[in-house]
Amino acid sequence: MDRREVRYTDVFDETIAMLGNGGLLLASTKRSGESNLMTIGWGTIGIIWSKPEMVVLVRPSRYTYEFIEDSGEFTVNVPTPDMAKFVLFCGTNSGRDVDKLATFDIATTPGQKVSSITIDACPIVYECRVSHKNDVIPEELLGDIVSSYYSEGDFHRVYFGEIVGTYAR
Ligand SMILES: Cc1cc2nc3c(=O)[nH]c(=O)nc-3n(C[C@H](O)[C@H](O)[C@H](O)COP(=O)(O)O)c2cc1C
Repeated sequence: MDRREVRYTDVFDETIAMLGNGGLLLASTKRSGESNLMTIGWGTIGIIWSKPEMVVLVRPSRYTYEFIEDSGEFTVNVPTPDMAKFVLFCGTNSGRDVDKLATFDIATTPGQKVSSITIDACPIVYECRVSHKNDVIPEELLGDIVSSYYSEGDFHRVYFGEIVGTYAR
């Protein structure tokens, strides 16, 4: 894999731009070796507990949720604009019903510091180890957030993943 290790701050702009432009690919691999991925449009990067952390929000109904719960790891892969079709597919189809990687013949490589897969076609990858998780508290949500985003419940689990490696080409 031709990505090299960079500082997580080096690729911040590109990451946030794609987060708001189709989304990023969140992938995780169970201890059994099985992998899954999904699109995310919400997340943030910052410093918590004196460490760089990637915060992602995953609804418990997502198949990927099971993978992160099992492994305690995930990768966040920043796609290129020409991967838009695949990214949309990953955000509108569940790994319970279809093998997303096989459908699009997508190559993957295990992370360097985590076992979760990384997507070869993505030029930027963050490898993350879950350092904390908590659930969105319905009673603590302001204004119309519940009616706008949680009409069916399924309140997000918020994962704080320590960024143990950032790689870019
Ligand atoms: C642009 C976009 C952004 C999304 N962002 C999120 C997100 O941040 N969190 C989440 O739980 N689901 C999000 N989704 C929905 C999941 O990607 C979608 O439900 C996916 O099919 C789940 O796959 P899985 O069941 O294989 O895990 C998003 C979907 C799209 C299209």
